[in-house]
Amino acid sequence: MSEQLDRDDIVTNPSGNRHLRDVVAADVSRRHVLGGSLGVAAVAFLAGAPAAQASPPAATTTDVVAGKGGRRRPLMGFAAIPVSTDDDVHVPEGYTADVLIPWGTPVHSDGPRWKKNASNSSREQAVQVGYNHDGQHFFPFDTRGRMKSRGGRHDDHGAGLLVLNNEYTDPSLLTTDGMEKVTLEKVRKHQHAVGVTVIAIEQKKDGGWTHTDSAFNRRVHANTPVVFSGPAARDPRLQAKTPSRGTMANCAMGDTPWGTYVTCEENWADYFGSADTAHTPTEEKKRYGIEPGASFYSWEKADARFDTDKDPNEQYRWGWCVEIDPFDPDHTPVKRTALGRVKHENAHFSTSRGRVVAYTGDDQNGEYIYKFVSRRPWRVARGMGRSPLDEGTLYVAKFHEDGTGTWLPLVFGQGPLTEKNGWKDQGDVLVRTRRAADAVGATPMDRPEWIKENPLTGQLYVTLTNGTSGPTPANPREKNVYGHILRWTERHDDKTGTEFDWDIFVLAGDPTKDPAVDINGDAFGSPDGLYFDPEGRLWIATDVSNSKQLLKEYENLGNNAMLCADPRTREIRRFLTGPKGAEITGITGTADRRNLFVNIQHPGEATKAIGEPTPAAPQAVSSWPDHDPAGRPRSATVVIRRKDGGIVGT
Ligand code: FEO
Ligand code: CA
Ligand code: CA
Repeated sequence: MSEQLDRDDIVTNPSGNRHLRDVVAADVSRRHVLGGSLGVAAVAFLAGAPAAQASPPAATTTDVVAGKGGRRRPLMGFAAIPVSTDDDVHVPEGYTADVLIPWGTPVHSDGPRWKKNASNSSREQAVQVGYNHDGQHFFPFDTRGRMKSRGGRHDDHGAGLLVLNNEYTDPSLLTTDGMEKVTLEKVRKHQHAVGVTVIAIEQKKDGGWTHTDSAFNRRVHANTPVVFSGPAARDPRLQAKTPSRGTMANCAMGDTPWGTYVTCEENWADYFGSADTAHTPTEEKKRYGIEPGASFYSWEKADARFDTDKDPNEQYRWGWCVEIDPFDPDHTPVKRTALGRVKHENAHFSTSRGRVVAYTGDDQNGEYIYKFVSRRPWRVARGMGRSPLDEGTLYVAKFHEDGTGTWLPLVFGQGPLTEKNGWKDQGDVLVRTRRAADAVGATPMDRPEWIKENPLTGQLYVTLTNGTSGPTPANPREKNVYGHILRWTERHDDKTGTEFDWDIFVLAGDPTKDPAVDINGDAFGSPDGLYFDPEGRLWIATDVSNSKQLLKEYENLGNNAMLCADPRTREIRRFLTGPKGAEITGITGTADRRNLFVNIQHPGEATKAIGEPTPAAPQAVSSWPDHDPAGRPRSATVVIRRKDGGIVGT
């Protein structure tokens, strides 16, 4: 989210946990790294990373992976593409990128058509694909046999549900005359354009994809009824003046082992404001970035629910991970409080020792990385009719300077989280997750974005998109404008445990401007979205803030892009470039690796280097994807395929 990025650059975790930067060893390693003489391998070495994690020798394009029967074949076979500054999506020679379900597409074929002057009503928006596509997952239709029993298709890859987040809206582009004059109808349209879209898609005979009708197609938005579960569900602060409704600021997500979708609420604080600008916000509000005065989106001017003076408790209902069953159109989304209340980027679900483990980053400068471990084996909990996500332990990460790390439990009564220190119960710990993490001494990070797991090794990767939390060993640059990717391995291959070993995978950036950049391949900055395909290719999406894109440190890096990396060799190649003003996000694919779905978010958004869209000139920055002189830019999914039907990336 570029708009938030601008503010994230300023807003920093005020708790200032800075224990690591005080360590002498950290300073030694920083001087070497910032001097550019040693690079990433040196970070791992100086940090004492285990030999097994040391960087393999740099590979060439002939690098291979072992195939069945010892046969070896290349992991990446495409020719990298150059940076781009034009208003289109580009992919390598031999590939196609087809637009699917742009904003406003009716989710049912008899639904209201999208109007290119943005005059669709709020009621119409509630049954159209939402705005600003973000994290997404493809659920093939035979995952749980649902379609089988309904006489549908059994194909593993050719049809399924695409479930995607719609993160936020652009006040200049969502309605015909913008938000200069705020009305309840306009606010409702914005509320109905965020949330989640569930829509069936299928592959046509020519290999392309189209959306289709299904009983599962639906929208979940900021006014959809929701319920709370877990230890904080009955916390008095969650009891607001109106029934609990909605999810929004839906950044990225995760898919659970039992086939549900978990959407994560990230920049929800931007939606809360007040008419009164004079009062001082509580420390608790400040910790989550809620200040008095008008909010960025102005919802509070027409909807008292988002006015922090009129309904002071509503804000506590946001910042959660929200579970949705895409295969049950009547399912009420559940906010799973055991996973904590922060500004969640995504939730990566894994299993270990029968337990479900969820990893999630809190995307703000100086915030933390968390994991949740279920108390019972997840199958046992479900067998008892309980959600494995309602009982368990939430941990926060501490990265030591020697390349090891510790998961610190956020449990009421343990360590500093006691009644004597002002903690009431576990619900209180979860409502004030950031404060609890401050108290136990977690490591502040450079804006933790997506966390994903290499399916071949079990290693976890996190994008630290940019920030100023360092220098520390885990965040080695003092002013980290380009970001880095860090990875860790849980000790003894036990994701339920509390010890891990970490190293830095890549320090991103433009090597012509920063000697610390250590990319074996194509330059990029501000890594954000991640996806591992089943063969272990790591796909990396970038989200350079529109205040920085094409300027200064980023003047050579073009529009936002998607790259492909070989996790063993660290070779990285640019695979896709996006249109003007857009970020790339939401990478997912079919299990056969022949189709990648990628989201193009906020094309045409205000961009310092290009300009600003207005209701009178909505195409001032971009007209992608329609390039219709009477239209406006629209976020959309693109489907990437090889023209010969082969595996994407080879
Ligand atoms: Fe919605 Fe941190 O990106
Ligand atoms: Ca993101
Ligand atoms: Ca981002």
